[in-house]
Amino acid sequence: MKVILSGGTGFIGRALCKRLLQDQHEVVLLTRNPGAVTSSLSDKLSFRLWDAQTLGPWRESIEGADAVVNLAGEPVTAKRWTQAQKERIMASRVQATRAMVGAIAKADRKPLVLVNASAVGYYGHVMEETVTEEAAKGKGFLADVCEAWEGEARKAESFGVRVVLLRTGVVLGEQGGVLEKIIPPFRYFVGGPAGSGKQWFPWIHLEDVTGSIVFALHDRNLCGPVNVTSPNPVRMKAFCEQLGAVMHRPAWIPVPAMVLRILYGEMADVLLGGQRAIPQKLKAAGHPFRYPDLAAALLTMIKE
Ligand SMILES: NC(=O)c1ccc[n+]([C@@H]2O[C@H](COP(=O)([O-])OP(=O)(O)OC[C@H]3O[C@@H](n4cnc5c(N)ncnc54)[C@H](OP(=O)(O)O)[C@@H]3O)[C@@H](O)[C@H]2O)c1
Repeated sequence: MKVILSGGTGFIGRALCKRLLQDQHEVVLLTRNPGAVTSSLSDKLSFRLWDAQTLGPWRESIEGADAVVNLAGEPVTAKRWTQAQKERIMASRVQATRAMVGAIAKADRKPLVLVNASAVGYYGHVMEETVTEEAAKGKGFLADVCEAWEGEARKAESFGVRVVLLRTGVVLGEQGGVLEKIIPPFRYFVGGPAGSGKQWFPWIHLEDVTGSIVFALHDRNLCGPVNVTSPNPVRMKAFCEQLGAVMHRPAWIPVPAMVLRILYGEMADVLLGGQRAIPQKLKAAGHPFRYPDLAAALLTMIKE
């Protein structure tokens, strides 16, 4: 399979690229930053420069490709959500997806599938109910971003391309993602849940994210929104207790919601909210999760 991959230099993209190359697929990375392309050891890997906004010579790479995976977007939690940063988070996703779909529209030989990033943030903060792909859009900035982002991706359906929208949960893995930020206080014996700790934490192991994307590339029946989360979400408090247990550290110092709001402003919603998201479609399709259990998942990535 020839796969065009944007955002392939990021946390999920690097792992996906490695997995696709292991599976003997040909990968063309679309990147703004060729210097960040590190998996240069394979003759099945190449890259094209794009600006993630406009059509350019890179669009030739789409011609005759079997699949497109679009993960590009300004990092969501790297900087405080000023108005300008919120605009970057929104525009980077909408424009990159629009450019990608524009390139697909122009290709004479179109890919069979577009697998596009989205997030469980689509559902907003949901306190108790179980959230499947049928749940309604929620409130808040991230829900609006996901709606606009998914809307751009879905335009590829009008050319007969199967579109899969990855409503991904909180991805846990080494060298990046949220765990890198959560672990330091635990190391110094001051770890604990954000806010009340009652909010749901829809975690997923990085390997199960890449596995789900590969599954979505191959399963011709999978389309539309797909929750990419572990089948066993836990509450924030339980997550912190498991993390503390794996690290042999206490997990009893909560960070009050007010402190998080002062530190992070509106971005604190990411920690203080959550959803009990369930991967209903992946389960129904028979997708096997390698790490359904949180303790086992954490043990693969916590090095003492
Ligand atoms: N990690 C998670 O827990 C999680 C959860 C839910 C959803 N997601 C979504 O999944 C996607 C991949 O996540 P990730 O954690 O791998 O992200 P990441 O590490 O931040 O990487 C995203 C990639 O997007 C490109 N990018 C960065 N800023 C950009 C901008 N302003 N405009 C256009 N492209 C830009 C970069 O590629 P180049 O520099 O090579 O162009 C970067 O490698 C993201 O869209 C994210 O929102 C992630």
